[in-house]
Amino acid sequence: MTTTRNLAARPALTLLYPRTAIAARVAALAGEIDRDYAGRDLLLVGILKGSLVFIADLARAIGTPAEIDFVRIASYGSETRSSGLVEIRTDLETPIRGRHVLVVEDIVDSGYTLEALCNLLLLREPASLRVCALVDKKSQRATDVPVDYVGFSLEKGFIVGYGLDYDEQFRGLPDIYTIQNDA
Ligand code: IMP
Ligand code: MG
Repeated sequence: MTTTRNLAARPALTLLYPRTAIAARVAALAGEIDRDYAGRDLLLVGILKGSLVFIADLARAIGTPAEIDFVRIASYGSETRSSGLVEIRTDLETPIRGRHVLVVEDIVDSGYTLEALCNLLLLREPASLRVCALVDKKSQRATDVPVDYVGFSLEKGFIVGYGLDYDEQFRGLPDIYTIQNDA
């Protein structure tokens, strides 16, 4: 089979979080979540598409019975920077009033996307609303949205793999890589 994609132009990737390290952090997060939500009726809300691999692993590591639902959101801004303007493109199927909701996000960067989504969800009066992020780019934060469970803290760099993309590429890689800026 031939492909029109120019493979020579693919940017260079440097391994950052191998799958073993990711699995260890997912197991630790699941332990924290199980402790905090024991006996509660948990709803995991994944933000598409970036959280798809993370939520699949997290849901299987959690012992607490949980329902899973998804939102798809569009955030407006420049190519590299989101803004506070967020629109729900595909909404939850599940009513969340009175539910214990845990939002599962791939990366929190400025926090604009997450803050706007949380504000929208809070209008629906869940019993509780918390956030679990695989990667927290805390130094980039421009909002004070709380992130309750964090897999990894990252100072700088753009990362791909394990559901994370660059221009819709690399989501299927089982490990997480830093993508070279100058490539
Ligand atoms: P924020 O609104 O600035 O917090 O942007 C968060 C969103 O930007 C995440 O949900 C990701 O979709 C995307 N994003 C931010 N940094 C990265 C990265 O390093 N790799 C892939 N996506 C990223
Ligand atoms: Mg995202």
